[in-house]
Amino acid sequence: MLPELGKGIYMVKIIIDGASYDAKTGEHLIDVINRTGKEIPQVCYHPQLGPIQTCDTCLVEIDGQLARACGTSVSAGMQIVTGSAKTESARREAFDRILGNHLLYCTVCDNNNGNCTVHNTTKLLGVEHQQIPYRPKPDPVDNTNPFYRYDPDQCILCGRCVQACQTLQVNETLSIRWEDDHPRVLWDGGKTIGESSCVSCGHCVTVCPCNALMEKSMVGQAGYMTAIPHNALSGMIDVVKGIEPELGYGSILKVSEVEAAMRKDRIRRTKTVCTYCGVGCSYEIWTKDRHILKVEPSEGPANGVSTCVKGKFGWDFVNNEDRLTSPLIREGETFREATWDEALGLVATRLSEIKQEDGSDAIALIASSKGTNEEAYLMQKLARAVIGTNNIDNCSRYCQSPATMGLFRTVGHGGDTGSFKELERAGLVVIIGSNTAESHPVLATRIKRAHKLHGQKMIVSDLRRNEMAERADIHLKPQPGTDLIWLGAVSRYILDNGLAKMDFIDQWVNGFAEYKKSLEPFTMGYAEQVCGIPIKTLQTVAEMIAKADGVCVCWAMGITQHTNASDSSTAISNLLLLTGNYMRPGAGSYPLRGHNNVQGAADMGAMPDELPGYQPVDDPEVRARFEKGWGITLPSAKGLDNHEMVEAILEGKLKAMYLYGEEMSLVDSNANLVQDAFSKLEFFVVQDIFFSQTCRFANVVLPAAPSLEKEGTFTNTERRIQRLYQVFEPLTGTKPDWQIIQEVAKRLGADWSYNHPSEIMREIASLAPLFAGVTYERLEGWKSLQWPVHPDGTDEPLLFTERFNFSDGKARFFPVAWSEPAEPLDAEFDLHLNNGRLLEHFHEGNMTYRVEGIREKTPDTWVEISPQLAAKRGIETGRWVELTSRHGRVRVRALVTQRVQGHELYMPMNSTESPVNRLTGSHTDPVTHTPAYKDTSVKMRVLPEKGQSPLPKTNYRFGHPTPQRGVEVERKWKRPDYWMPGTQRPPVKTNNINLPSGENHGSVDSF
Ligand code: SF4
Ligand code: SF4
Ligand code: SF4
Ligand code: FES
Repeated sequence: MLPELGKGIYMVKIIIDGASYDAKTGEHLIDVINRTGKEIPQVCYHPQLGPIQTCDTCLVEIDGQLARACGTSVSAGMQIVTGSAKTESARREAFDRILGNHLLYCTVCDNNNGNCTVHNTTKLLGVEHQQIPYRPKPDPVDNTNPFYRYDPDQCILCGRCVQACQTLQVNETLSIRWEDDHPRVLWDGGKTIGESSCVSCGHCVTVCPCNALMEKSMVGQAGYMTAIPHNALSGMIDVVKGIEPELGYGSILKVSEVEAAMRKDRIRRTKTVCTYCGVGCSYEIWTKDRHILKVEPSEGPANGVSTCVKGKFGWDFVNNEDRLTSPLIREGETFREATWDEALGLVATRLSEIKQEDGSDAIALIASSKGTNEEAYLMQKLARAVIGTNNIDNCSRYCQSPATMGLFRTVGHGGDTGSFKELERAGLVVIIGSNTAESHPVLATRIKRAHKLHGQKMIVSDLRRNEMAERADIHLKPQPGTDLIWLGAVSRYILDNGLAKMDFIDQWVNGFAEYKKSLEPFTMGYAEQVCGIPIKTLQTVAEMIAKADGVCVCWAMGITQHTNASDSSTAISNLLLLTGNYMRPGAGSYPLRGHNNVQGAADMGAMPDELPGYQPVDDPEVRARFEKGWGITLPSAKGLDNHEMVEAILEGKLKAMYLYGEEMSLVDSNANLVQDAFSKLEFFVVQDIFFSQTCRFANVVLPAAPSLEKEGTFTNTERRIQRLYQVFEPLTGTKPDWQIIQEVAKRLGADWSYNHPSEIMREIASLAPLFAGVTYERLEGWKSLQWPVHPDGTDEPLLFTERFNFSDGKARFFPVAWSEPAEPLDAEFDLHLNNGRLLEHFHEGNMTYRVEGIREKTPDTWVEISPQLAAKRGIETGRWVELTSRHGRVRVRALVTQRVQGHELYMPMNSTESPVNRLTGSHTDPVTHTPAYKDTSVKMRVLPEKGQSPLPKTNYRFGHPTPQRGVEVERKWKRPDYWMPGTQRPPVKTNNINLPSGENHGSVDSF
């Protein structure tokens, strides 16, 4: 009996070319062959896409029969021959068909960078002459997407792009209609790219094995001779074609390889980590001087080949002319440029004076969740060890603190339970209050793929019919702020009906009796009445959760930005404990972190009550360790959080602030009040890459460097710490934040001497047990670590495998009760206003509006209005409306859409002119002071002006996807002119030419 590796998989022996190899049953044969080091062609195969089977170049003999190695699953005792005359001739025949669709003009091709699959396969097969002549295609190049172009003339119809779009990104835009006379890749079944549902994620471009799909930023830029005008290029291509019959491809390829080698001197490939959202995609950035040629994802531990539009194409802002390049000092109502010396001198003088006059606690600091871990660490060290205050915070309070609280209360660690892999494995994913497809796009692709291909179930609770809600098996639309109630009712139903995992609870969870009692009010009837969800639906949800083979719950700002945010987050974790959905793969809690390093900013102690690694400031033992490490005495009282800072300024207690990389005047709720407070500060230092809205209130503005211009680490939502390497030198006049913070500290008397962020990380590891084993060496290249990281460098991709993070190793039920939202509707403020992120813009858009292609597709903000409300109030798309809340007013254009219903309004955050936070109030979750952004009611006045639609027709939201299960190669195999290479060709009639049976070469067809 063979040993089982899990779920019916066994280790077996197979014979390849006479030698025995280990393999797992069900494994793709091509993966095993690749492991042996034998080189066989495989043009359409990509391990992250799985077998596509369109190219036939991987043919091998299996038990005497020709078969595709990629499409064959391993079974015990298989006999494989990879190098027989039969297989070689069949592969060559297959590749000839490919060359019939592709011109080899490598020397003048921007894809000639050593990694072109078509080029490399030509070489591998030793192709000297093409048997099937190249035939130009009838369609022109499609240039209608701002970021990439499609050249049908070079498309080899491998279908990788289709497979990626349909089954990995699952945007379902691409297809190939194999029945057409001239098949090509189609967008929405035949639209231009620009008019289609394409979200510009770039998956297709990344996996294309040749130059058919290419980033526009590469075109004419990568090669030494690729910038030549089109006519000259055509001439050169003709020359290549002309000499091929005589010289053969071998010599021609050699010339192009010399050119490719020369490119290595001027094209740099640098690994970085995305600066936008908390998914933490990593990739290489290809640059030529300061020009970004392309973003190339390949083996990032969180994303593989995946990106969204922001990571793949959203980097123009780095070289934007608006970049701050000199410190600025306020003079009256304007600013003047200053030297670094003068500006830093002023910062040090004024902070010292205020500390002298009003005490350390009259100063507050804000760290950025866009900055690195090392920078957040230094900022809190500056606050505590140099200025002497715990008044330090970061924007994790605006979204993630309640989720962290819910997890601290119940399981003891405030991070995602596991990796994205667990989300893929889960039998059921429940998404609550998260527009995952837009806010965490690459993470969403993993759920969409599992749902589409692997039978995973999905339940979404959200006010809006967002993409995930549309795809879900059940979409719950609770009344705003009532998720805790349906969660309670489902929990009680599970308990009452004997569906709870009592064995797990008995062994691993404390506090069952109190929890059970706390569920008493949550009857199904009560939930139906308050949430507006039918009892039957709730019962189905309860049964699905109780019976699923692993449940992961993802949640975000739809939960954490209500007044009951911490309690709702706690209710989620309670439910997972009740159903035994911790301590096993494919299960657990996944609070989705927003910014690229919002997890890290909190981890690093940029919080008023916790030192790095979530160590309380009021714990004398903890303080003693840091005091010893830093050689100072630390303040012991909890400092002000960012919400309290605003109040303290208004009360005249807080006089000065130092903030970096946060657009706080717009992204904090009740922006009018925050701006009023900022205008009252005696001294305000703002450090940023652009002159943000917050800079307007500053006394000193310090020009910083974005992520591409520095080294450091980010921590994503999976608790994954990853290194970013410097792509460019900091723009002249700017400095990385860690250097600026150090300069400020030194001028305030500190003896810091960090030469590189790795030294800062060494200090972090020495003081925070959570990161004890983190070193830059262990994070080299694509490597990553998921905290906690033990001194020997082992990490914990999946938390709670042996115990929960409490002293007795057990989790805790934490009873919660529901509280009403802060701003119920009334006769005057009669509409609920929801808000959130967009796929294309990050938050208010300070970076993404400086990306031309994004601005073209999504130039402005809007308010979503339901067709019902629009009809009632006489509003059409493009109409200007005025929204007034109890806190402020904005003018904005309407977008009538079925994504919202009834009296629900929705505004994305992407505006600095009409920011939604002019409307949100100051009420907070009482436990964490996270603003209740989502508890906002407004009234709406319809204005006379009618404008254009705020969204151009070329926005992907107007497209019509064409879902199918991948490339559907079976349809290709059914073509009358297709036959398996190496087999006898049947007689076919094609293009009015009768071809005799058995004639395999010189055909006009290339299938
Ligand atoms: S959505 Fe667009 S960019 Fe993304 S894979 Fe599909 S076609 Fe390509
Ligand atoms: S465009 Fe698509 S089908 Fe054509 S070569 Fe590229 S990946 Fe293959
Ligand atoms: S924004 Fe998020 S999903 Fe998009 S590439 Fe960056 S990290 Fe990945
Ligand atoms: S790699 Fe197997 S068919 Fe293309």
